[in-house]
Amino acid sequence: MKKHLIIGNPIKHSLSPKIHNYWFKENNINAIYEKLAASSTEIKKIIQEVREEKLFAMNVTVPFKESVIQYLDELSESAKKTNSVNTIMKKNGKIFGDNTDVVGFELAIKNLNINFKNKTALIIGAGGVVPSIIFALQNIGLKKIGVSNRTMEKIEIIKSRFQHIEKVEWGDLGDYDMYINATSVGLEKNDDLNLDISKLKSNKIFYDVIYNPPITNFLENAKKFGHKILNGETMFLFQAQKAFELWHKISPKIDNNLINFIRND
Ligand code: ATR
Repeated sequence: MKKHLIIGNPIKHSLSPKIHNYWFKENNINAIYEKLAASSTEIKKIIQEVREEKLFAMNVTVPFKESVIQYLDELSESAKKTNSVNTIMKKNGKIFGDNTDVVGFELAIKNLNINFKNKTALIIGAGGVVPSIIFALQNIGLKKIGVSNRTMEKIEIIKSRFQHIEKVEWGDLGDYDMYINATSVGLEKNDDLNLDISKLKSNKIFYDVIYNPPITNFLENAKKFGHKILNGETMFLFQAQKAFELWHKISPKIDNNLINFIRND
């Protein structure tokens, strides 16, 4: 049986075991996927298990996407560019790390069927997922990407990797085509960034990386003003699909049955 694991901390709410175990069953793959609330001191040992083929493959989530890199042999281009790994497997005898969050976000945005070439976006937040979002937006062809964060210094670290981003003062929304919440504010139902969006022009896109709850206050408020909204569910589904594809050379189906199964948690 092929063993799979996701490590993170906290990990309780991860839906990755649920989606991958569903796909194993659907595709008749003899495998299991489990989750572990790991501590940073355990990571080396866990990667060793991939090397020894006790573990077939892994996902990595917050806060280990960067710290896991030191134990890997090879990285994909997107993992290198973002300094972030969410998918691991042994490939040609080497431990390979990939970052499927990038393509996950790209596909989620493309799914909107809007031409993003020469459009602009403001990312709110500077945490672990932000380099993946910036890289994906660049790949899609956006003209201008702003980043705003409560703690301004964190933007400098991102800017050292992505020189072209614009540093934006906290609370300054400017005039962008798309606004992306990449903070953890919204995970709790009453969380609110308290942004004043009343003066924005109409027909913007509001995207929240969070998908549980499905409509954060950030999205709820945007909806009231008539903007288009999208949560992080499609990004989650696509990043999982791409990880599965890398591991099993099969593109698993994303259909309504799967989406309902995931939502009924
Ligand atoms: P990490 O920073 O460890 O990667 P994360 O969950 O990926 O963790 O990122 C948390 C993001 O949410 C950060 O951008 C954080 O802002 P700070 O850098 O200023 O801490 C943001 N965040 C968390 N709580 C916030 C709050 N109450 N108001 C505004 N931003 C907040």
